[in-house]
Amino acid sequence: MKKYFVIGNPIDHSLSPEIHDYWIKKNKIKAKYGKKKLNNNDLKDFILKIRNGEINGLNVTVPFKKEIIPFLDKLTFSAETTQSVNTIYLENDKIIGHNTDIGGFEAAIKSINYKVAGKKVLILGAGGVVPSIIFALFKMKAMSITLTNRTKSKAEILKDFFNNSSHMDKIIKVINWGEIPDCDMIINATSVGLHKNDTLNLDFAKLKSNKFFYDIIYNPGETNFLKKAKENGHKTENGKKMFIYQAAEAFKIWHGFQVEINDEINRIFEK
Ligand code: ATR
Repeated sequence: MKKYFVIGNPIDHSLSPEIHDYWIKKNKIKAKYGKKKLNNNDLKDFILKIRNGEINGLNVTVPFKKEIIPFLDKLTFSAETTQSVNTIYLENDKIIGHNTDIGGFEAAIKSINYKVAGKKVLILGAGGVVPSIIFALFKMKAMSITLTNRTKSKAEILKDFFNNSSHMDKIIKVINWGEIPDCDMIINATSVGLHKNDTLNLDFAKLKSNKFFYDIIYNPGETNFLKKAKENGHKTENGKKMFIYQAAEAFKIWHGFQVEINDEINRIFEK
């Protein structure tokens, strides 16, 4: 029986076990997928379980996507470029860290036929998932990426990291929290919205209609950020598809085949 886990802190909210279990059962694979709440000083020992074969793969969520890196043997290009790991596996006795959030976001945006190319994008937040969003937007040829974060220094660090990267053009700038510049797509990558009554203290009123509001949050399915945007006539999308596609990419790495993604999977999110 192969064993997989998602690790993070907190971890209760994660739907990764449900989605992987669904595909494991559907494809009659002998495997189990659980969730584990860890602290920083548990990471090293937990990773050793991959090397000795006790565990066959891991997903990594907040706040360990970067913290896990020192304990791995090798990073794939996507993990290296973003310094962010959400999927771990053993290959030729090496513990590999990979990033499927980039592909997940890209696949989600493409599946709804939104064209990022040439667009001005505003990202709210500078936490763990933002490097992956930035890199995916760059791959999809966004014209500019503006970062705004309550703690401005964290956005500045991200800007410097990517604007100095040989893999990216210098398309990132940082503005003060509270400023809303003209843009085409606004992405909420803060944790504000995870609780039903959470509301961002930002004023989007001056944005003309037909913008695209995207929330990384998938649970709840409609944050106040998306609700208000919809009321104001904007296009909206939550993080559900990104979550499904990042999971499918991890599943393919571990089990060797692409799962079919259909509407049945939505039941997992309706609980
Ligand atoms: P981490 O910051 O540990 O990586 P995260 O969940 O990935 O955790 O990121 C949380 C994001 O939500 C951060 O950008 C955070 O802003 P700070 O860097 O200023 O902490 C943002 N955030 C959380 N609560 C917020 C609030 N009440 N208002 C605005 N931004 C908030």
